[in-house]
Amino acid sequence: MQIPRLHPDTIEEVKHRADVVDVVSEYVVLRKRGKDFVGLCPFHEEKSPSFTVSPSKQMYFCFGCQAGGNAIKFLMEVGKRQFTEVVLDLAKRYQVPIKTLEPEQRQELQRQLSLREQLYEVVASASQFYQHALRQSLGNRAMEYLHQRQIQAETIQQFGLGYAPAGWETLYRYLVENKRYPVQLVEKAGLIKPRKEGSGYYDVFRDRLMIPIRDVQGRVIAFGGRTLTDEQPKYLNSPETELFNKGKTLFALDLAKNGISQDDRAVVVEGYFDAIALHAAGIDNAVASLGTALSLEQVRLLLRYTDSKQLILNFDADKAGTNAAERAIGEIATLAYKGEVQLKILNLPNGKDADEYLHTHTATDYQQLLVNAPLWLDWQIQQTIQNKDLRQATEFQQVSQQLVKLLKNIVNSDTLNYYISYCAEILSLGDARLIPLRVENLLTQISPATVQPSSLRVRKQEPTTPKLSLITTERSLLEQAEALLLRVYLHCPPHRQEIIHELETRNLEFSLSHHRFLWQTISEFTVNESNLISSLQNIYLESGEELEFVSHLFHLSEKSKKEIIRTPQVIQASLACLERVFREKRYRHYLEMWEKTDPQLEPERWQSYYQAFYTEKMRLQELDKQRQFSFTELI
Ligand code: UTP
Ligand code: MN
Repeated sequence: MQIPRLHPDTIEEVKHRADVVDVVSEYVVLRKRGKDFVGLCPFHEEKSPSFTVSPSKQMYFCFGCQAGGNAIKFLMEVGKRQFTEVVLDLAKRYQVPIKTLEPEQRQELQRQLSLREQLYEVVASASQFYQHALRQSLGNRAMEYLHQRQIQAETIQQFGLGYAPAGWETLYRYLVENKRYPVQLVEKAGLIKPRKEGSGYYDVFRDRLMIPIRDVQGRVIAFGGRTLTDEQPKYLNSPETELFNKGKTLFALDLAKNGISQDDRAVVVEGYFDAIALHAAGIDNAVASLGTALSLEQVRLLLRYTDSKQLILNFDADKAGTNAAERAIGEIATLAYKGEVQLKILNLPNGKDADEYLHTHTATDYQQLLVNAPLWLDWQIQQTIQNKDLRQATEFQQVSQQLVKLLKNIVNSDTLNYYISYCAEILSLGDARLIPLRVENLLTQISPATVQPSSLRVRKQEPTTPKLSLITTERSLLEQAEALLLRVYLHCPPHRQEIIHELETRNLEFSLSHHRFLWQTISEFTVNESNLISSLQNIYLESGEELEFVSHLFHLSEKSKKEIIRTPQVIQASLACLERVFREKRYRHYLEMWEKTDPQLEPERWQSYYQAFYTEKMRLQELDKQRQFSFTELI
């Protein structure tokens, strides 16, 4: 639709009626401070609130970034929208009649506006009808059902529960014949359908317990109808209508929004009755997702009310095999990996849903479980290792691959570091000495750069974690060098003595722990061992050590063969790389000491540190030459 030119009267009226606190609080959690409200500014990053909203002036202002204006300006800025668009929306929201400068457009807009208003009215009428029916004798069975489920009168009232009678046209007659609503309107509200044969309409909901679905403002927009028998489907929901969009609605949010901002966290359950039972038990920050995957829009809706962005998903445990849970979490996984939502997972004991759980436990028990609910990533890691025997090679490998897959998604580098060490710990099976090795293995797998020799060239791709890929480029060079040295040792027995000699006299060590481990194992054999490779393989298999990272050394590819032909250069270049690692450390150390020393107070120390770091620097340059010369030839 073309954007109309609004009449100045309409704009004035919108300015007059739109309340800035009301508008802003849909986007910012506001707290009262004196006459005004304060919150975290949505226009710039901040940790303590400098964003104020003044109801008396009908203005907002941020002391941090100087953003300011009225309700219209706010919506334009926050949604990057045009003036007219925002005014139109506000006009609809505050029921301001829209006058445009062009009469045809005006009619069209008025028609749209009134359609929604009329739909709200029809749906509200239907809800009244269902509530009334529940209290008549024809509603006895439904009422009995609610009592069986231990739902109190108060809760029935609070949620506006009702009953759709069993006939085919009871609601139709009430709304169309009694209340004189146009039949098309009732159809558009999703309450009746045209008969397939013959003329006339029939009720969508028949003989069902009716649960009204309300929008954030508490207006009924749709229904969920539960069968009282074994009929399928168990729940019948209103179709999508002008008012009802399943993916943008959360059941009970109208009742939960205050609780969510008070608790600063939201609980999301799957079922209507789970939300109902939680509210009845006094846990008033719960909403239900209507049985579908959570959408980004639903999450955004919830996050409006919490500063800490904490969401706890309490989904059925039995369905929550990792895949099912991932589906339920759907699009919000990305938000969680980015750290934009603090997502926690609660699976209740014995696969119960919240409603069932509360029949045998107190609200305090449930609250306790909420507090202890694991973060989504921890939960996923637990799911991955559950019922796995990590002492078995194949299961170990499966698990470690799955963990790598998880880790790869983490965007924040601190979070990544944390989870790498956490996973390394799990994979070390209680042997702390193995942790560094596992960390390195995980790092290597997370960044495939290290695996392929071509990674020696500068990589053009944009890394998600610059720090990590920088490390890995350096590492990959070192890994290459160490691998070459080991390969020569394994495949060229005549050079073994030389390698041992060089390593010993130059006091060099392998830096990567899977190489160090291999070298240690090699040292247990004599230099003349003829079956070295197969003996090593046996040791790895017997000890359950991972072969994965060294097994490529036991075989020679075409490329490796070529490299090995240049053996003398390979050995020197590799040794240069190894030596570089500790020279670099020493260089930094002496440099730092030199900088810290006062030449006036301790001229001699100052001089000797200078000497030391200068010597290291020269040696580093020498090593770089050796290593570059040989490596460029090798690639
Ligand atoms: P569940 O099957 O887990 O039901 O569906 P429940 O909530 O525990 O139901 P009770 O306790 O037996 O009454 C979870 C949610 O999935 C949606 C509903 O929103 C339901 O609350 N659903 C389920 C449907 O929309 N249609 C169905 O046929 C079933
Ligand atoms: Mn249930």
